[in-house]
This record gives sequence, C-alpha cells and structure tokens, in this order.
Amino acid sequence: MIKIYEAKDYQEMSRKAANILSAQIILKPDCVLGLATGSTPIGTYDQLVEWYEKGDLDFSKVKSVNLDEYKGLEKTNDQSYYYFMHKHLFDRVNIDPANTNVPDGMETDTEKECQRYEELIDSLGGVDIQLLGIGRNGHIGFNEPDSAFAQKTHCVNLAESTIDANKRFFASADEVPRQAYSMGIGTIMRAKKILLLASGEDKADAVAKAFFGPVTPEVPASILQFHSDVVVIGDTLALSKMPR
Ligand code: GLP
Repeated sequence: MIKIYEAKDYQEMSRKAANILSAQIILKPDCVLGLATGSTPIGTYDQLVEWYEKGDLDFSKVKSVNLDEYKGLEKTNDQSYYYFMHKHLFDRVNIDPANTNVPDGMETDTEKECQRYEELIDSLGGVDIQLLGIGRNGHIGFNEPDSAFAQKTHCVNLAESTIDANKRFFASADEVPRQAYSMGIGTIMRAKKILLLASGEDKADAVAKAFFGPVTPEVPASILQFHSDVVVIGDTLALSKMPR
C-alpha cells in the first residue's frame, strides 16, 4: 500500500522524512537502515544530525546498507557514494563505521561483489526501512528503465539521461562513471518499509508515472505499487502532476 504525503517544500519534506527515520531508530535501536544518495536526502540527513547533536537520537547500534555505488571510483573520490555518506551522515553521528555498508565500487569481480552484498543484507536480517530518491526517468537506486526488473544486486550500465543528470557533480560528463553496482528491484522490494522522497518539478512526471501509471520495468519505481508498506513524501512541485 502506498501512502502519499505532500510537503510544502524541500525543508518540510526533509523534516517529515527525518521524523519517520527517527521513529524507526527509537523503536528499534539496532535497526537496519537502507540509505540513499543524491541531492534529495541531504536535508533529511542534516535534520537527523541536528537531532543527534541535541541528544534525541542514538545511532550506536544502527546498521546501514546503501543502495548503490559507482563502479571504478575510489572511496576517497569525492563523488563516490561512500564519500557522500561519510560526509553527510556517518562522520557526523555516532554510528559505528563497521556497521555501515556501501557496495565496493573498486571490486572488479562483478559476480563476487553482487553476491557478497546480497548475502550481507540477508545476514543483517534484511532492511527495516529503505530510503529512496527517484530519478527523472523513474529509476530507483541505479535500476534504470529496462525490459525486466532486476532481482538482485547487479552491475548496471547507466542510462544517458542519468549520466546527463549526474554530470553536474563532476568536472564533465566524460568523468561520470558508465557503470554502477546497485541493489536490484527485488532487493529493494524485500525491505520491510519503503520511504521515497521526491522534490522539485523535474520529478513530477516520474512520480505520476510511478504511482499512477502501469507497473512496468520501463518505470522501475512503479514496482513499489506492489509493496505492502510504502510512504512517499513529495513537495508540492514533485506531486504537481499527480491525478487529483
Ligand atoms: C541517482 C541515485 C539515486 C537517486 C537519483 C536522484 O542517480 N543513484 O539513488 O535517487 O539519482 O538523484 P537526486 O536526488 O540528486 O535527484
């Protein structure tokens, strides 16, 4: 079941999302958080850090697994998702770095890394709540529009539109990696709860298609219509193309 909540702007979306993640951490201090990167969740992480600093949140027993990572970027590369997570969250709260997990973008043996990541998620007992953004083409994690839904963690060839959307973070489009490791749609669907955030007009088409269109691998996020517990928080612009 999908519940959609409207926030008036990015800040309100971020606070609502942080409230839901906080509740999860308070209710189950050793929970497994599925985490996401991109510009969308940054405000949520900032809010969690603020509440941590106030003494309202304790990450000491929390475990985390990230959705995806560029293939071929070192952890020290400031565009790697490993770097992003440390910068925006892990280095700012009392989470044990040993309890944080991001796919290893430098592992060249694709099969080995994908299998390791799937087994790791299973060994943690699965994800309690998975935070998601959404790509302009409806991708979640790095699951690009395709003819079938990927079941497990896999190596993805990034869509031109994704390379184009993400080039703003790199010196040029040529520097954007062409491949990434990503949890599969099946991996994401096994999370007990999903929290998807969307902000801005350029996400409005993707949100409308994902939640009000047919379920199709051409719009990867549309599979979430089949999940039993999905919360979508969108700001007014991101929800502006939903049928009313
Ligand atoms: C990236 C990430 C996704 C993210 C999406 C949207 O490519 N792999 O996890 O949700 O694109 O990014 P943004 O939040 O910056 O719009």
